[in-house]
Amino acid sequence: MIELKNLCKSYGNHQVLRSLNMKIEDGAVHGLVGPNGAGKTTTFRILAGLMRADSGEVIVDGESMTYLPGSMIGYMPDFFGVYDRLRVHEYMTFYGSLYGLHGDVLEQKIDALLHLIGMEGHREDYVDSLSRGMQQKICLVRCLIHDPRLLILDEPASGLDPGARYEFKKLIGTLHEQGCTILISSHILSDLAEMCTDISILNDSHVVLSGSIEEIEYRMRSSSRLVIRVNSDRERALLILRNWEQTESLTYSGNEFHLDLRGGRENAALLLKQLVAEGIAVYDYHFDSGSLESLFMEITGQKGGKNES
Ligand SMILES: Nc1ncnc2c1ncn2[C@@H]1O[C@H](COP(=O)(O)OP(=O)(O)OP(=O)(O)O)[C@@H](O)[C@H]1O
Ligand SMILES: [Mg+2]
Repeated sequence: MIELKNLCKSYGNHQVLRSLNMKIEDGAVHGLVGPNGAGKTTTFRILAGLMRADSGEVIVDGESMTYLPGSMIGYMPDFFGVYDRLRVHEYMTFYGSLYGLHGDVLEQKIDALLHLIGMEGHREDYVDSLSRGMQQKICLVRCLIHDPRLLILDEPASGLDPGARYEFKKLIGTLHEQGCTILISSHILSDLAEMCTDISILNDSHVVLSGSIEEIEYRMRSSSRLVIRVNSDRERALLILRNWEQTESLTYSGNEFHLDLRGGRENAALLLKQLVAEGIAVYDYHFDSGSLESLFMEITGQKGGKNES
């Protein structure tokens, strides 16, 4: 496990990190989310040894250090340059050689990584001639060339179109399945929610909440927003939902109901069972995916929500 403990960092009088604490479990895809300027990039640069923290430590399997050595991490910065007139395989060879790889071992590694992102056919292409999505994928896999212990990705999907974002998420999923430990930042919580096993929310210079996505939702809310759509029997459905003991609030429009429900998943399952038992034709029943985003807004004090600390 990698642990960040009491990290502090100021730029002049501006304190960016104030006792930042975070734990990254082996094999986790850990998302660091926070508004612009929260200190995500600063945290990553400290971890990667590109910047010194004023105080605090990074603990790897119980051993204290000030940053993670290069052999241990693959770091994809938020702004990456690609070199002019360098072909894909030259680019990969360059990075591999920086880590002492060469010969057949390096060639096989490059082949495997290009295969992973479906770009075997682009070995001879100039990197600066590729689309942004392809450049970002190349940049990501070059961080994997030395099998790092931790992959650090600073907003890796920014600027990508929906199709390329989807591809990128799939790639992160594949790396997770292969056992990679990944730390990834974004200021779009819903993006991270789909990819991550754990999330830390950074606000007001420190981590205000950390845990699995389910834990975070559970800790912040005693109720969750359910969306229910029925085919018919609107009035009977309304009666059941209104009289359900754990219903906190109910709004509806046409055949669609929005319900704040106490009691989490267990209660939601009981309610669905009841609706079906009463013969209501339910064709859609889900927790509102936007609730995580509104949770983020609440925590980070945006849209007039409250600040948690
Ligand atoms: N080299 C620097 N000198 C002075 N201030 C800096 C420097 N780097 C960052 N900052 C400031 O520190 C704060 C945190 O910046 P950082 O880039 O870590 O935030 P971030 O969470 O990555 O933001 P974003 O979502 O916009 O990428 C910001 O207010 C930024 O202006
Ligand atoms: Mg940043």
